[in-house]
Amino acid sequence: MNQAFGIDLGSDTVKIYDRRDDSISIDKNYIAVRTPLKIIAVGNDAYEIYERNPMDMVVESPVIDGRIANVMEAEAVLQTLLFRQKHYVGSRQDIYFAVPMDTTEVERRAYASVTRRGRLKDCNIYFIEKPIADAAALGINTKKTKGAMIVNIGASVTEISVIADSRIILSRTVKFGGNTIDEEIVSRVTRKNHLSISTKTAEQLKLMYASLESTFPAEGCLVLGVDTDNGLPREGYISSATIVSIVKEAFTSFAKEITNIISRTPPQVRDIIMLTGFTVTGGSSRISGVVPFLTAECGMQARLSDLYELCTVSGLKEIINEPAGAKSAYVRKRR
Ligand SMILES: Nc1ncnc2c1ncn2[C@@H]1O[C@H](COP(=O)(O)OP(=O)(O)OP(=O)(O)O)[C@@H](O)[C@H]1O
Ligand SMILES: [Mg+2]
Repeated sequence: MNQAFGIDLGSDTVKIYDRRDDSISIDKNYIAVRTPLKIIAVGNDAYEIYERNPMDMVVESPVIDGRIANVMEAEAVLQTLLFRQKHYVGSRQDIYFAVPMDTTEVERRAYASVTRRGRLKDCNIYFIEKPIADAAALGINTKKTKGAMIVNIGASVTEISVIADSRIILSRTVKFGGNTIDEEIVSRVTRKNHLSISTKTAEQLKLMYASLESTFPAEGCLVLGVDTDNGLPREGYISSATIVSIVKEAFTSFAKEITNIISRTPPQVRDIIMLTGFTVTGGSSRISGVVPFLTAECGMQARLSDLYELCTVSGLKEIINEPAGAKSAYVRKRR
């Protein structure tokens, strides 16, 4: 049996399944590069430096809106994370990439390019569409279901997919996710508090206070930023109510995207989904109250997958460990 990896390269985190020890790892998908092209840090270590980096260093994610934006950086992140001592790889590997639904040939080539050198250069590459991997993780039988909908809310994008008749009959990638909320927090605090804060601070505020519940504890904290009037560093008080109102506004418009997809679904499949509901997954589905909120806004039952951001990679794991015949139905081989 070949060594096999399942890889979900997200805009915020990279998740890797390693068949050798049946483990899943998750790291920030960031890289710190000092120009010209000297890698300083990768993964969680790079995210530590993010927004605190000196002028001659760039810290960023090689994936933008769920797609590889910088092949060389993506290659460096992957090769580093795969070959950490635990991830030692033997001679020939199978690499399964979870890819967005509507990837073009050029975008798929980018995945092939990140494995063209080093110890991965002779590997076999397989592509699995993300909703197919999600369905495998959620126990949805793609071949048998008459109608299922999955909403994967990530960092930069959300994939809303409808499965029926052994295939994805409808899929839409919406530019909505945790980063959307972080950016809205930054812009609201700048406008209301005249304080410029980093997106990392905004994410911390979100992790502490974001909620879609109808009642939430009234709290708050002091954060450090830069006064937009005089350019001097100062602290500002941000309340949980501010964060909650941003999150609720963002999710109210987002829920319309889900109902929009439902309205475009063929009637016989739509009826089934309206009856059985849909599953919410992805890292941003960790925001408390997401299920009652989306159920009320969309007028159909939402369900939460407790796999959250590990949903797609857990599906890769299922598929990788399936017998070859069953697997070939939805795996496309590249090299
Ligand atoms: N407890 C939490 N509450 C709110 N948001 C959270 C929580 N935990 C993680 N997140 C958010 O989840 C997002 C990461 O989710 P995920 O790993 O699914 O995204 P990704 O796959 O990297 O991105 P994408 O799918 O958009 O390319 C981040 O925006 C992060 O802030
Ligand atoms: Mg994702």
